[in-house]
Amino acid sequence: MGSPAIAILGTGAYAPAKILTNEDLAKQVDTSDEWIFTRTGIRERRIAGADETTSSMAAAAARVAMADAGITAADIDLIIVATVTPDLPMPSTACFVQNHLGVPVSAACFDLNAACSGFIYALDTAWAMLGSGRYRHALVIGAEKLSSVVDWTDRTTCVLFGDGAGAVVLGPAKGTAQILGARLYAEGTHTNLLCIGGGGSNVPNPSANPEGPQRHITMKGREIFKIAVREMEEAARDILKQHGLEADRIACVIPHQANLRIIDAISQYLNLPADRFFVNLDRYGNTSAASIPLALDEARRSGRIKAGDTTLLVAFGAGLTYGSALVRW
Ligand code: ACO
Repeated sequence: MGSPAIAILGTGAYAPAKILTNEDLAKQVDTSDEWIFTRTGIRERRIAGADETTSSMAAAAARVAMADAGITAADIDLIIVATVTPDLPMPSTACFVQNHLGVPVSAACFDLNAACSGFIYALDTAWAMLGSGRYRHALVIGAEKLSSVVDWTDRTTCVLFGDGAGAVVLGPAKGTAQILGARLYAEGTHTNLLCIGGGGSNVPNPSANPEGPQRHITMKGREIFKIAVREMEEAARDILKQHGLEADRIACVIPHQANLRIIDAISQYLNLPADRFFVNLDRYGNTSAASIPLALDEARRSGRIKAGDTTLLVAFGAGLTYGSALVRW
């Protein structure tokens, strides 16, 4: 008997209420709406409130996804949270989410860090675990409180990121939304291009060195841009080839929402019209691991994804990591 077919049974998203516009940022650092929008496509982003955590946003998105799937917390036996901004280094954010939702102790709960590719990494991991037949319903969540690691005095990074969460419920396929494939990649020769300094074991313990590295995002934007385009094109082409699909069979691409110019470049290289790419980064900025599930949920609820559509998810992020997945709705 082969592995059971696994599908996305429900999707959900959560975005904090507070909106930070480009104009707001221009009052804090030397920037402008015109610079940010023309370079990135971003107009505004959401910022978590003081009482909101990565796990509370993840749980909010998960509740919507579970309602959409028609299942309850008692049905969940696996939670994977993809994040680079866990509530704490230990314990895992997934355990906090389990507690928020009341998921039974028989569930496996863990975090996964593949930066902005985290959701696709988590999707593939959960797909394999459910495919083994040992787990039945998984919550796969991408959630980030990037506002907690942004250097709000650095105009080269603070304009790019936002907070939010997206979730899917995976379970036995009933004929729709089946996961067809996924591919994961990592290029560890480029670990230096995008980092969160501080907070790790390879930096001085802050108690011994209070002046040491801050827990902030640093990035070599130009280098990332070029590699991101190459990696996302490769991840898209490989999975299409593996499944014998021409690019024009893809009804909707859900790309990682980092920069509209990166998405436009991929659209050109794949020879797929820009209107096949779902974009919401104008309203959320780059929410790292949350970006794809947040966009996926919006695309579904807005009718942009229809029954029978084949959807391509494609991401890149720090590591560098990259990956792709195909879903037939
Ligand atoms: N406002 C105004 N000016 C700015 C700003 C700002 N917010 N930021 C930088 N500048 C200035 C720079 O100082 C520089 O000035 P100079 O020429 O006097 O030195 C000038 O603008 C050009 O800077 P560049 O960095 O060369 O601008 P570029 O066109 O490359 O755009 C950007 C920068 C938007 C960051 C682009 O490189 C990019 O999007 N790269 C990819 C980044 C990305 O996607 N990161 C996330 C990847 S992974 C993940 O999702 C976590």
